[in-house]
Amino acid sequence: MDRAVEMVIAEYERREQVENEIKREIGFDHDQTRRDEFLLSVGRSSAQLLSILAKSLQPKTILEVGGSYGYSTIWLAEAAHSVGGKLITLEIQPRKQQYARERMAKAGLSAAVDYRLGDARESIRELAGPFDFVLLDLWKELYIPCFELFYPKLNPGAIVVADNMIYPELTRAESSQYRAHVRTKPHIDSVLLPVGGGLEVSRFTRGAL
Ligand SMILES: C[S@@+](CC[C@H](N)C(=O)[O-])C[C@H]1O[C@@H](n2cnc3c(N)ncnc32)[C@H](O)[C@@H]1O
Repeated sequence: MDRAVEMVIAEYERREQVENEIKREIGFDHDQTRRDEFLLSVGRSSAQLLSILAKSLQPKTILEVGGSYGYSTIWLAEAAHSVGGKLITLEIQPRKQQYARERMAKAGLSAAVDYRLGDARESIRELAGPFDFVLLDLWKELYIPCFELFYPKLNPGAIVVADNMIYPELTRAESSQYRAHVRTKPHIDSVLLPVGGGLEVSRFTRGAL
């Protein structure tokens, strides 16, 4: 990985360490009223897995649903760049996306990224697709509505990774509903991996029907 990218990732991880202390102090696991202050990143092990999967799949188009301050965005952009693909990233909070843009520029990866600001449901409706790789990582009550919107635009063989299937416990019920929902779809292989906050990795063997 390029040195500039590694340095930006290290900067995010230092911020996350500081935030983890604050989250412990305020009891964030039970009270998420301050959630927009924090990166809420997928974490390093999930990011590494995303990078490995994306580089193996060699996607033309990666879709990130929920970019936040841009930690997973950097990893996905680096993967997209390395295989000659592009990343489309969706986020509703302007200041988070601005922060992500600045760090992406420092990492030298801006050319690989298409930023869409606004409600992800609207953005997905506007995007033609097709998508080869999707990271689903916004507020959990929106997983199924977003999934339903991008599902018809998946290429055959596309992989969808959904975060926070196991942690935080607060949203486990919604995550379980998502997992059950995905498994009702035809031509899908789906598995829960205990990596990071828990990842549901789903592969569409023939694309959406
Ligand atoms: C868990 S964070 C994403 C973390 C990011 N993937 C990472 O690993 O660094 C979820 C993000 O989804 C965003 N979000 C919530 N509702 C949204 C919506 N309707 N449309 C777009 N983004 C939304 C939140 O603002 C938040 O930044």
